[in-house]
Amino acid sequence: MGAVRCYHEYMKRGLGIVAIGVVLIIVAAITSLALLDAKTSAPEQSVSKPVSSQIMITIPGAEPFPARTEDFLLSNSSWVVVSKSRPLPQPDYVPAGIIVPQDIPRNDEKTPEEQSIRSDIVELLTQMLTAAKQAGHSLFMASGYRSYALQEQYYTNYVRTSGQAEADNFSAKPGYSEHQTGLSLDLSLSSRGCYLELCFGQLPAGKWLADNAHRYGFIVRYPADKTGITGYQYEPWHLRYVGTDLAKALYESGKTLDEVIPQLETARTQLIEQKLITE
Ligand code: DAL
Ligand code: ZN
Repeated sequence: MGAVRCYHEYMKRGLGIVAIGVVLIIVAAITSLALLDAKTSAPEQSVSKPVSSQIMITIPGAEPFPARTEDFLLSNSSWVVVSKSRPLPQPDYVPAGIIVPQDIPRNDEKTPEEQSIRSDIVELLTQMLTAAKQAGHSLFMASGYRSYALQEQYYTNYVRTSGQAEADNFSAKPGYSEHQTGLSLDLSLSSRGCYLELCFGQLPAGKWLADNAHRYGFIVRYPADKTGITGYQYEPWHLRYVGTDLAKALYESGKTLDEVIPQLETARTQLIEQKLITE
């Protein structure tokens, strides 16, 4: 009897193990089928507005780069061309999202407005100033965003004190200043050595900016050898954000922003043709 009972016990235990095994196999099969189904029926990546087109911009002396969907005729484009002969497309333009960048050393004698810049360039500006510091150059932002009204105050004052011809050499008229885009800023040494003076360009900090700003998307907008093209005196302290691709191409080619308008124009026409931007 004991042996029979033992046999039954044995069979029961065996059947139990088999049953558990079968259940586990079924669960595993259902799970893998479900996973397979999830994989095959997952939605394709949504196709949003392309951030980069296949249209390439070629500037002699520089590596070609994608046109993206920038429009240099728009006030809010990081490629907008504002110069002595080209006012902002909208004279009363106020950039969206300008902020006082709390972690960037600034000139706190200026109004909060002038301590501001566009929020979307803060990250790269911070990286650039950190790299400059690591290279031994402690810099701060002397002037950032300037509204039409503030530029008007400055310009009127410069004309009064220096005369119009001299003022026009170093100051933009209201509506014609890159500072109104929120993409430009003046940098100075924390020690204030050569503060907004030509000699800043001869200092190691000025040379470092000229050699490295493009890595962070910035250009020295008014170089010493381009005064005839920009219409402004050499301003080694005035940096303009144009994005890393264009900044690198301008650095490699040795051209100013004004000199690549034909290439930006061609790219714009192609972007419009491909309906990647609107006219
Ligand atoms: N100093 C530059 C040209 C400006 O006033 O915007
Ligand atoms: Zn400036």
